[in-house]
Formats: sequence, structure tokens, C-alpha cells
Amino acid sequence: MERVRIGVIGTGGIVQAVHIPQMLAHGRVDFAWCADSDPATAAKAATLAHAPVSGTDYRALLRDHPVDAVTIGTPHVAHYDAVMAALEAGVHVCCEKPLAMTVAEAEAMANEAARRGVITFVPFSYWFVPAARLMKELIDEGALGQLTHINGYYGQGFGLTDMPMRWRFQRAIAGSGALGDLGSHLISLTYLWGGKIRRLTAHTKTFVHERRIEGTDQMAQVDVDDDVQVIGELESGALINLSASRTYAGRGNFQRVEVSGFKGGAVYNNSHGDELEVCLGDAWVARNQWGTLKVQPKHRLTQMQVFPNAILERKAPADVLPNFQIGLEVQRVMEAIEESATSGQWVSL
Ligand SMILES: NC(=O)c1ccc[n+]([C@@H]2O[C@H](COP(=O)([O-])OP(=O)(O)OC[C@H]3O[C@@H](n4cnc5c(N)ncnc54)[C@H](O)[C@@H]3O)[C@@H](O)[C@H]2O)c1
Repeated sequence: MERVRIGVIGTGGIVQAVHIPQMLAHGRVDFAWCADSDPATAAKAATLAHAPVSGTDYRALLRDHPVDAVTIGTPHVAHYDAVMAALEAGVHVCCEKPLAMTVAEAEAMANEAARRGVITFVPFSYWFVPAARLMKELIDEGALGQLTHINGYYGQGFGLTDMPMRWRFQRAIAGSGALGDLGSHLISLTYLWGGKIRRLTAHTKTFVHERRIEGTDQMAQVDVDDDVQVIGELESGALINLSASRTYAGRGNFQRVEVSGFKGGAVYNNSHGDELEVCLGDAWVARNQWGTLKVQPKHRLTQMQVFPNAILERKAPADVLPNFQIGLEVQRVMEAIEESATSGQWVSL
């Protein structure tokens, strides 16, 4: 295969800002069509993607304009149907995070993809921050020793604004609030660096309970969390303390995660994605000295080029990460968090 033909399902914010430009820059990707429930959005994306066709019915486009793969960027409630339609057509599938609304949906998607042997991909974007890859490398080579803590914070501030009602504030469309939107990224980073979570307890809170329906004076109920706090333990025995929120004043998109082990520590900060703050080695640890470690060219990967590369290189689906299996792992943790936040009890995974 010389080139990859891709169809796009759901062509809003992230697809126009990241999926289409990064895949166009790849050089061996052709967009066959763009589908969106809003025809004007689909047409705009098709122009951006140099795709000859746009429409509102992705099933008809899959049938009439065959592709090798699709990339999906709809709101969460529409992921399952779009993924299953693509799998039914036998194509490779990239689907945005969080993969599904429930564990049952995510399991069905992962099982069907495995049965068909196609490549899957979930854009947990922060896996592709160079500093996150350097962190993974340090942990894998034992530079931090046995891990004791992953202490992570992901803050945005848009929940404090008078932003009108959007799908992100509606459980029926988004499934959850800060948990799925931001927490899923933190959970995915925890998995990347520390592996599976064994048990956890969680608390969620909604600070702003209603928002104006755009263009009217009427208010609508917010029925998702603005903030989620988790403490827990990994299968490795390391402890985790995670916080994801839309209600941190002055925060646009800020992440800071400190990973600590018996031999050293490292701090990832997405605002400084080309370096880690580290305290490594006996001499530095004994003196509580911290310094800066810069990433190298090998840590730079363009997220949305990993998927077409994997197709062109005919990689085994299990070797393409993060895939639907990772999406399913994250979904299991999200569901455990909701269960704990509702019951007030610790939950084992
Ligand atoms: N990886 C990341 O860092 C990141 C960042 C932002 C958003 N996301 C994820 O991307 C997805 C989309 O988010 P967004 O911010 O781009 O949303 P958006 O609202 O800007 O775009 C969603 C698009 O999907 C369309 N749509 C809705 N239902 C559809 C359906 N059934 N079929 C076809 N099209 C449909 C809408 O018309 C809209 O154009 C979500 O899963 C979100 O969590 C990921």
C-alpha cells in the first residue's frame, strides 16, 4: 500500500484543528470524504482536507466511497455507532477519547476490532508530548526505581465562565464532565507510566448547576461533574492522587504530574513539553537537588501520523498505541470513579 484513504466522521473542533492538518502533513494520506451531522461543517472540513465528497450519512459514504480507515471526532454518545459502522465496513479505526459512554460499549468495540484484525487508535494526545515519552523512558530504564507516587493535576477554567449550554455539560451526550473530558487524559498518562490501577476512591463535584440555552433567556441543568478527585493504588503498589477540573481560575489547559520512586523523581508539565524537571541519582536525591532534562529528537512523534504510519507499515494492532484496549482500560477506571463517587466507597478494579 502506497497511500492511505481516510474518511472522517464528525468534523468539528479537534478534527479541523488536529486530525486533518496533521494527517495532511503526513504526505501519504488522501481524504476521501468528510461526514458530519451538520452539512456546512462537513463541507468546510472537506475543503480543508481536500476531500472530494462531504455529507451527513457516514454509512452511505462508507458504502459508496470505500476507504482504508476512518477517523472519528463526534461527541461521545455517537462514538459507538460510528465505530461499529466502520468496523462493519472492515476498515481501520481511529476514535477520539473517551472511547465510549460505558465499559460495555468499549468492550464491544475492542472485541469487534480484535475479531476483524484491524488497527485501532485512540488519540490520548498527551502520550505524544515529548516530555511524556521521556518520562516513560526513564521509568522503563529504572532511573526512578520502584514507583511510589503519581500525583497529577489537570486544570482548565472554562467551567467558571458564563459559557452557554454545550454538549460537554450534558450527561446524555458526554457521559460525564471533567472526568471524561480531562480525567481520561490523566488516567491514560497514569497507565502509560505506572500501569493498571488496582483500587480507588473518588469524589466529583458540580460547581455551576445551570447554563443559558444559547440565543434564549432560558436556563438548562448541568448534569455532569465540573471536577473529579481520585486517590488510589496501582497494581505495582504505587499510590496515585489525580485531580481533573474545569473550574481552576486562570487555567487554559494546564497539566502537572509528579512521578516519584525509590531512586528519584520527575515532574511533567505540559506547558514545558520539551523537558522534565528531575531529581535523579544518589548525589542529587541525597541533596534534594532538581534540574532540567531535555527531550531528544526520538521523543517527537506526531500523534495523528502514528495511525496512518501503522496502516502503511502493516503493524500488528497490538503494537499500535494507544489503541482500543487502552481506551477500554481508561473506560474501566472512569466507571470505577463514577461508582465510587456515587457510593462513597473504595472500588477494586
Ligand atoms: N484528544 C484531545 O486532546 C481532544 C481534544 C478535544 C476534543 N477531543 C474529543 O474529540 C471529540 C469531539 O470533540 P470536539 O471538541 O471536536 O467537538 P465539536 O462539538 O467541536 O465537534 C463534534 C462534531 O461532531 C458532529 N456530530 C455530532 N453528532 C454526530 C453524528 N452522529 N454523526 C456525525 N457527526 C456528528 C457535530 O456536528 C460537530 O461538528 C470528543 O470525543 C472530544 O472528547 C479530544
